[in-house]
Amino acid sequence: MSVQNAMTADFLRSAYGGESMAHMRYIAWGKQAENEGFPNIGKLFKAISYAEQVHATNHFKELNAQVSDYTVAAGAVFGMGNSVANLQGAINGELHEVEQMYPVYLQTAKFQGEKGAERSFHFALEAEKLHAGLFKKAQEIAKEGNDLELKSVNICPICGHTIIDGIPDHCPVCGAKKELYVTF
Ligand code: FE2
Ligand code: FE2
Ligand code: FE2
Repeated sequence: MSVQNAMTADFLRSAYGGESMAHMRYIAWGKQAENEGFPNIGKLFKAISYAEQVHATNHFKELNAQVSDYTVAAGAVFGMGNSVANLQGAINGELHEVEQMYPVYLQTAKFQGEKGAERSFHFALEAEKLHAGLFKKAQEIAKEGNDLELKSVNICPICGHTIIDGIPDHCPVCGAKKELYVTF
C-alpha cells in the first residue's frame, strides 16, 4: 500500500531528501575523521550513513505510486570543518529530526491513516534518538583529542537501529533477527 494523502506524501519526499543528504554528508565527515586520526569516529559516521540510507530507502518505497517529477525542499546541515565542528553539525541535524521533524511527520501520518508512512517515520525517529546520543559522546571525546573506543557499529537494515559492540537477538524497534544486522 502506497501513500494516498498529499501532505504525508510531501513529508515523505522531504524526509527522503533530508536522509539522502545526511547519508552523503556522513560519508564526507567520516573521511575527515579518519584523516584527523580518529578511525572509530570515522566508522561511526560510515555506519550511521548507512542507517540514513535505510531511512531514505524506506521513505522512497512508501512513495512508489507517486510517479512524477518533484522539486524537494529538505533541511540539511552544510559545512566541512574539523571533526568537533562536524559532530556538532551531526548533533544539530539529528536533534532537529528528533525534536521537530519526525514527531510532526509521524503525527500527520497517524492522523491521515497512512500506516506505511507511520512505520517509516517511526523507524527513523527511533534511530535518530540513538544517533544524537552517539554523536554527543563522540564529540565529548574528540574535544579532548581522543578517538572513540569501540569494536563495531551495528545497523539494522530494516529500520536503521544503531548499536555499538553488540547485537540483540531481535531488533528492539522492528523485531528483525540478529543475523540481519550489518556490521561496520
Ligand atoms: Fe535518518
Ligand atoms: Fe540519524
Ligand atoms: Fe530494526
